[in-house]
Amino acid sequence: MNAKVVVVGSLNMDLVARAQRLPRGGETLAGESFFTVPGGKGANQAVAAARLGASVAMVGNVGDDAYGQQLRRALEVEGIDCQGVGVCSGVSSGVALIVVDAASQNAIVIIPGGNGLLGPESVRRFDSLLQQAEVIICQLEVPTATVAWTLARGRELGKKVILNPAPASGPLPVEWFAHIDYLIPNESEAEALAGLPVNDLDSARRAGRRLRKMGAGKVIVTLGAQGALLVDDGEGRHFPAPEVEAVDTTAAGDTFVGGFAAGLARGLPEEQAIIVGQRAAALSVTRAGAQPSIPYLRELTP
Ligand code: RIB
Repeated sequence: MNAKVVVVGSLNMDLVARAQRLPRGGETLAGESFFTVPGGKGANQAVAAARLGASVAMVGNVGDDAYGQQLRRALEVEGIDCQGVGVCSGVSSGVALIVVDAASQNAIVIIPGGNGLLGPESVRRFDSLLQQAEVIICQLEVPTATVAWTLARGRELGKKVILNPAPASGPLPVEWFAHIDYLIPNESEAEALAGLPVNDLDSARRAGRRLRKMGAGKVIVTLGAQGALLVDDGEGRHFPAPEVEAVDTTAAGDTFVGGFAAGLARGLPEEQAIIVGQRAAALSVTRAGAQPSIPYLRELTP
């Protein structure tokens, strides 16, 4: 199988606690429930792309522990090519400690584990996967040098290159932008990258235009319940979000990115691919957890 979508990124085991509200600094709070599910932005995006119709390969690292085996297995059962998922001895797998409150908002602490050891050479070893891909996706939970190398290589190979700049707390290296076809930040990431406040459609458009001036191809700002905004060299377009009752927003952004990439890989026009990502993300927030919440193509309303 030639993977049309290759994801270079993180795999985490998510340890999820639900509580009425998020704890304040120094506070101990009684929660309501606890569960453990496979997550990690890279792995979530790979699962989303696979469930939404693409053939997918993952390049990443796990530790030599039980979580690592479970994380790899979770991708294999989706038919994802895991030859590029390495096992690092002597380190833990990536872990995310997640608290979800009654309003379905979350707070996350990441321990990178094996993700932190994914060097550019780990990706270079699987260059044949990149060569066969149509779409290459990166996020920011693996070392910066690896993201930089992959974006540049994707551009050199003429692939569609997507960067989901998550998590982002400041500007990106400016030389990255010329390698990116689709930059897909959420509101806070757009704000951090563009250095402009983002709190509504107009401010998202301004940030998107600033990021395009910095060199990014097209920018899609995801705005949660307000939908998504495509910023291109024309008027752009706002895609209002389907109305849903959210129970857990974890991995909604990942579902959007994976669904959009799958749509592109299946040959859909860009705007249709955005709608696929958006419908899938809307469904994902009605379910708990990262990978378990991601829908299959057959579940999306036409
Ligand atoms: O985007 C959601 C993901 O962020 C979670 O699955 C968690 O692992 C963190 O990486």
